[in-house]
Amino acid sequence: MYLVRLIYASQISPEFKAEDIENILEVAQRDNKKRFITGMLCFNRKYFLQCLEGSRAVVNETYQLICRDKRHQNVVILDYCQIDRREFADWSMGYVPTSRMKEQLILTYSPKNEFLPFELSGEGAHGMMLALRNQVEKS
Ligand SMILES: Cc1cc2nc3c(=O)[nH]c(=O)nc-3n(C[C@H](O)[C@H](O)[C@H](O)COP(=O)(O)O)c2cc1C
Repeated sequence: MYLVRLIYASQISPEFKAEDIENILEVAQRDNKKRFITGMLCFNRKYFLQCLEGSRAVVNETYQLICRDKRHQNVVILDYCQIDRREFADWSMGYVPTSRMKEQLILTYSPKNEFLPFELSGEGAHGMMLALRNQVEKS
């Protein structure tokens, strides 16, 4: 079974409440562990950027579940590819709020120093998430 990486961007929906993020993370971390999915979720209270890694069937299934979630909308795949190894193997779902993102890191990958996932290329989104992982692991 192939390993794949999927990165998508989405936006909160009118149904999203500030406290939902805790539940989203709790469920993601719990269920991803059972499915051997690893990855990272970035959030700035308006946009989500998430990377999922795991077996192709399981990542696809989980992505479909996530797409049906009414707490976000405009879900767009930025990157989908086969991979030889995981990059977030230690994280069932690492969480990085924008308060933990250095402005310069965002600017390196974005047109402005703002977290605007819909304006990232697939490669840019992947690069930014790896840089964020490295930043979080160092701190
Ligand atoms: C932005 C966002 C990211 C999510 N990430 C995951 C995830 O990585 N893994 C997961 O199992 N559920 C994730 N969820 C939750 C699922 O959408 C869904 O609520 C969960 O799988 C429970 O589904 P069920 O109530 O049909 O059992 C996420 C939801 C949102 C809004």
